[in-house]
Amino acid sequence: MNYKIMTADEAAMFVNNGEIVGFSGFTPAGCPKEVPTAIAKRAEAEHAAGREFRIGMYTGASTGDSLDGALARANAVLFRTPYQSNKDMRTRLNAQEAHYFDMHLSHLAQELRYGFMPKPNIAIVEACKLTDDGKIVPTSGVGILPTVCRLADKIIVELNAAHPEELEGIHDIYEPQDPPCREAIPVYKPSDRCGKPYVQVDPKKIVAVVKTNRPNEVGKFSPVDEVTAKIGENVANFLAGELKAGRIPASFLPIQSGVGNIANALLGSLGENKDIPAFEMYTEVIQDAVIDLMKKGRVKFASGCSLTVSAPKLEEIYNDLDFFKQRVCLRPQELSNNPEVARRLGLITINTALEADIFGNVNSTHVLGTKMMNGIGGSCDFTRNAYISIFTTPSTAKDGKISAIVPMVSHLDQSEHSVKVLITEHGVADLRGKSPIQRANCIIENCVAPEYRDMLRKYLDSATKSHTPLNINTCFNMHKAFAETGDMHNAEF
Ligand code: COA
Repeated sequence: MNYKIMTADEAAMFVNNGEIVGFSGFTPAGCPKEVPTAIAKRAEAEHAAGREFRIGMYTGASTGDSLDGALARANAVLFRTPYQSNKDMRTRLNAQEAHYFDMHLSHLAQELRYGFMPKPNIAIVEACKLTDDGKIVPTSGVGILPTVCRLADKIIVELNAAHPEELEGIHDIYEPQDPPCREAIPVYKPSDRCGKPYVQVDPKKIVAVVKTNRPNEVGKFSPVDEVTAKIGENVANFLAGELKAGRIPASFLPIQSGVGNIANALLGSLGENKDIPAFEMYTEVIQDAVIDLMKKGRVKFASGCSLTVSAPKLEEIYNDLDFFKQRVCLRPQELSNNPEVARRLGLITINTALEADIFGNVNSTHVLGTKMMNGIGGSCDFTRNAYISIFTTPSTAKDGKISAIVPMVSHLDQSEHSVKVLITEHGVADLRGKSPIQRANCIIENCVAPEYRDMLRKYLDSATKSHTPLNINTCFNMHKAFAETGDMHNAEF
């Protein structure tokens, strides 16, 4: 190999205070691990010597603890975008100790190319294979790897032997032209490929190669419980009804499924339901449930940006790569989450709300309106362009002390105009073609936990009799009751 092989500590010396780093990967899949930890160590040493050391960070989405966690703990973050989910990073952002701006994941690469944000000086990327002529084969997640490699002056490659070189062929690397020259993306079904199996970079930009053999840091998923099983059943029954009514074509449509425990559990339940035919996925994260369903023939193909699977599941995939390479395609997020493709393929999108209001507005990001949880991720990319957009949530949180359905969301991510169906363990609110008052009644009767229904009916009675009923004095009373007493049951209307 013609490149300079060095230790992570040596490679970290290429990154200086105030510089901006673009990282590969998406969720903890495909993220570099050694060099970010070494940068964090360097930041700690600089701080101890009384010097400033903080960097700007562009990632694909959330990352692993050795990236977000290490840099957050070292207080080495000037700004960061997009989605994150590390608890130490979350603490920093919520304490205003690092600037965070939440972006639609499909927007990030193009907005970097447009120059809307400062360009990354350096790209740090994980690869399973690197050739002397600058071909980088990513690992289990892609993210913004092609774009940050294009824009950065220097590239550091972490060559990770925990991912086999035989992964080559699973990726579909494509970067659209920028307007006014952009053409339609030639993906007409989830299994179509339109790019190359590697990222081509100028080999002269690769300043360091760090060899490692370190597994991904994806945690375990919570098992299906009674509530998530019931939500899964409700989603499946709703979709089966749509199929029967002829509102979904008999061949079915590709599914996009959100991130997290609830999404993983409900996709599992949905896949087991025999009223739903085997389906394809055009999604962002491919979680454990997809792999299990694929082995059973229930998922025929999955296009995504990452294999966000637990360690044993990744081992299953790597042990049977021939099987999975025919059924999985990993793409940059600009393509996996592309609104144009999502609208054209007719995706059935299923994402998770933290909170929804009685009109169908959804908050997926801000706990009780204040604390940033993770970010919007790709939820808006998909929801706004879906064939049918579904939001699911358990009807309550924190042992019933929080109702996930409130008079007005405390933060808005998806508006009532984009959310077509809301589903909890209690039932389905089909919001299509309904006015605000009809939506409110439908959500209260079908989705709200029975113990909170009277409270929300009372609120509605007290609200204006206008197109969208509102009581400006009391619409946040449930949030206020939780803030003051720790229980929304104490809200008064
Ligand atoms: N108010 C306050 N807290 C709430 C809440 C509410 N209305 N609803 C849920 N919570 C809490 C839960 O109690 C839980 O807390 P804990 O971590 O202390 O146990 C936490 O929020 C997350 O719930 P969990 O059951 O672990 O859900 P999850 O892993 O399925 O994640 C989201 C749910 C909404 C946070 C997650 O899906 C997300 O970040 N979504 C936004 C991005 C997105 O949709 N991406 C997909 C596009 S492909």
